[in-house]
Amino acid sequence: MAAKMEDIVSLCKRRGFIWQGSDVYGGMAGTWDFGPLGVALKRKIMDAWWDYWVDSREDMYGVDAAIIMNPRTWQASGHTATFADPLVECGACHGRFRADKIADGISESVTTEEFKALNVKCPTCGKTEWGDIRKFNMMFQTHVGPVDDDSSIAYLRPETAQGIFTNYKNVVDTIYPDLPFGLAQQGKAFRNEISPRDFILRDRECSQMEIEYFVAPETWEENFEKLLKEQHEFLTEVMGLDESKIHNLEVAEADRAHYSKRTVDIMFDYPNGQEELMGLAYRTDFDLANIQRESGKNMEYIVKGGGARFVPHVIEPSIGVERLLLAVLTCAYRQEENRIVLALPENLAPYRFCVSPLLKNKPELVEKAREVYAMLRKKYQNVAWDDSGNIGKRYLKQDEIGTPKCIVIDFDTLEDGTVTVRDRDTTEQIRVKPEEL
Ligand code: GAP
Repeated sequence: MAAKMEDIVSLCKRRGFIWQGSDVYGGMAGTWDFGPLGVALKRKIMDAWWDYWVDSREDMYGVDAAIIMNPRTWQASGHTATFADPLVECGACHGRFRADKIADGISESVTTEEFKALNVKCPTCGKTEWGDIRKFNMMFQTHVGPVDDDSSIAYLRPETAQGIFTNYKNVVDTIYPDLPFGLAQQGKAFRNEISPRDFILRDRECSQMEIEYFVAPETWEENFEKLLKEQHEFLTEVMGLDESKIHNLEVAEADRAHYSKRTVDIMFDYPNGQEELMGLAYRTDFDLANIQRESGKNMEYIVKGGGARFVPHVIEPSIGVERLLLAVLTCAYRQEENRIVLALPENLAPYRFCVSPLLKNKPELVEKAREVYAMLRKKYQNVAWDDSGNIGKRYLKQDEIGTPKCIVIDFDTLEDGTVTVRDRDTTEQIRVKPEEL
């Protein structure tokens, strides 16, 4: 049976993957806290991304920039002026909504007249007494230092991308990579979303994994196609997503971000419907040219050997960790007749093995199980120990958290040295020597 959002949310809560942020105080909308299992899954997704895009490639390098940046960053990038969503208020109940999200077929650039003509009903009270649409800037403001006035205003970054662009020159001046090359970054981004929703899909605090891929201007199209193909390979082969749930959407000009000349959104069939999983945008030289103008520093790249000099153009693959994690959970969740299974790919499962003694009140079994546990932990680190309840309950629990193999030490182990290995997906059991695991 296909996964329903409420089932995934319930499993995440029950098993310690994800809880509402500040749960104990009644929550904080648009924020989520990751528990022991969730953080393990999140870290594995982020590490697999880094491994695939940075460590195993010759043309990619990493950076890790500060979250609070000089506010001139956001002037130059256009975020101060244009990083805004269409906000509309219901005149009857005063609920505030993102206009393009409360009915199908409304674009982000919808005007008040177009919106009112559609006769959309307020999702809260059902009335149609809408005020004018106004642009709501989504950047979170803060003050830096002890003085609380206009001169100290700063922002929490709404995208990690600008921390890459502002370090482009540092990278070229220090390691001078050949063009094309990419700079990758993972980290938190903050958006004061009007309506956070769909569990971890639209958050006010999220984690992004972004690459700015710098290319010679005339080569942008071939690099765009190549990166698009590679994104699909990463999503299906490394993240284990079903190909059939992934769709490319060519974004129309009116809906593209202010910096983009071409964007393909990679959409995913989430339990509540199709939503953007990630974007691939051709940002031209928009960012580097703006930084060059605002900072007065030259952003040109000089092709090695005294070649041409130009401001590189940029292709940007950008993905949110939470959206990717939700896609992974959507594909992995299976409700079977007697059990729930999280069939996570082995490289992403929080625990690779779970080791148990058949009975916890038999010291000889516990001792042998501890030996096997210690041996596996040396090799794999992420190995669970479980001696709670009976063996059936342990299997059900490990199925739900996605542990691919459960290893049980029983009385036969004491006789012939073999252990039971039970497979999560098939529930089949075989006996092997621990050294063969
Ligand atoms: N640097 C480009 C950029 O930030 P974006 O389309 O606004 O582009 C990129 O965001 C990706 O970041 C999205 O495709 C999504 O995966 C993720 N993302 C954006 N806003 C998010 C939010 N409020 N909550 C969770 N993920 C979000």
